[in-house]
Amino acid sequence: MKIAVLPGDGIGKEIIPQAIKVINAIKEKYSLDIEIEYGDIGGEAIDKYGTPFPESTKKLVLEADATLLGAVGGPKWDNLPFEKRPERGLLALRKVLKTFANLRPAKVYDELVSASTLKEDIVKGVDILVIRELTSGIYFGKPRGVFEIENFPLREYYSEDELKGNKVGINTLKYTDEEITRIAKVAFEAARKRNKKVTSVDKANVLEATSFWREVVEQVSKDYPDVELNHMYVDNAAMQLLRWPKQFDVILTTNMFGDIISDEAAALTGSLGMLPSASLGGEKGLYEPVHGSAPDIAGKDLANPIATINSVGMMFNYTFNRPDIEALIDKAVREVLKEYRTKDIYSPGTKLVSCSQMGDLISRRILDLN
Ligand code: IPM
Ligand code: MG
Repeated sequence: MKIAVLPGDGIGKEIIPQAIKVINAIKEKYSLDIEIEYGDIGGEAIDKYGTPFPESTKKLVLEADATLLGAVGGPKWDNLPFEKRPERGLLALRKVLKTFANLRPAKVYDELVSASTLKEDIVKGVDILVIRELTSGIYFGKPRGVFEIENFPLREYYSEDELKGNKVGINTLKYTDEEITRIAKVAFEAARKRNKKVTSVDKANVLEATSFWREVVEQVSKDYPDVELNHMYVDNAAMQLLRWPKQFDVILTTNMFGDIISDEAAALTGSLGMLPSASLGGEKGLYEPVHGSAPDIAGKDLANPIATINSVGMMFNYTFNRPDIEALIDKAVREVLKEYRTKDIYSPGTKLVSCSQMGDLISRRILDLN
C-alpha cells in the first residue's frame, strides 16, 4: 500500500501528523505493508518551486495507490494571480487523478449532538452522503478569467450596454451528458447501499446547464428503479438542510453547489472539522478533509484532526478494500469523543484536548480495540 501524503498549508501541517499516527497504528495492528511518501502542494510548493502543483508531486501521486491531502491556501498567497494560487494546485491534483466523484458523508454522531448549533431532534440521526461532481462545471469551464473588454472572447454575445466599463470577469458553467451520467451513476450505486434515495440538486428553473443536468439524471435513474429520485433547487435544498435534514439520504450535485452544500451539511455534524471526503472515479483515490487550511488557528495545535482521520478510514475502505478498518477507526473516534474534545466540538463535562493529543488518543485506542 503506497500512500502519497501532501500536508499543504496552515493546519494541514498539524492534522496530517495525526492521520499518520493512525496509519501507523493500523500498520502495526494488522502487520500491513504500508509505504508513505511526502510531497509539496499549495502555498508551500509555490514558495519552493514557484508553482502550486510541481512535477515532482504529480509524479508522486501518479505512482502511489492513494493520496492523502491536508489543506491548501492562506493569506500569504491571496494576492497572487489566480493561476498561481494554492487552490489551483488542488484543482490540478483532482484533474490529474481524474477524481470526478467527491463523496462527503455528513453523519451526526450521537456523542456530538450537543455540539451542533441546531436543536437535538433536528440533527440526531442525520446521515447524509453528499456526492459532488469534482472535475468539471464552473470550476473548470472555459472561457474563464478577467479580460479587457476588447479582448473579451464572448464580446459578440453582448450588447454594448452590457459591456460598459473597462474590464469583464467571466466563468463558465459547462457539463456534458457523459459527465453528468457518470456522476449520477455513482450516486445511484451509493444510494443502493444506503437508504435508496437520491436528491439531485440543481437550479433548473434558471440555468440551462443544470436543467440539462436534471434531464440526464432522470434518464440515468431509469436503470435504478429501486432507488427513489427527487429534484430540488439549490436554494430550497440549502433551506431544507437546516429545516429537516433527515429527509436526505444521498445528495447529488454539481461542483459549485456541492462545495457550498457540503459545508452546510458539515455544520449539522457540529463542526467542519468532522467531515472527511473521498474523491474517486479515476484509477487512484484522493482523500482529504472537507475543511480548509484555517489560517486563523494554524500553528496553535487547536485544529480538529478527525475529518482527516476519517478520510484515512475512507481510504482503507475505498482504495484498499478494507471496510473493517474504516469501521475500526470510526469506533475508536467515537469512543474517544465520549470523553475528549478539541475546541471546535467542546462541550462541558468533556475534557478539552489539543490536535496532537487527539491524534494520540485515537491512535492508542485503535491499538487497544479488539
Ligand atoms: C473544498 C474547498 C476547495 C474547493 C478549495 C480549497 C479549492 O473549498 O474542497 O471544498 O472549492 O473545492
Ligand atoms: Mg469547500
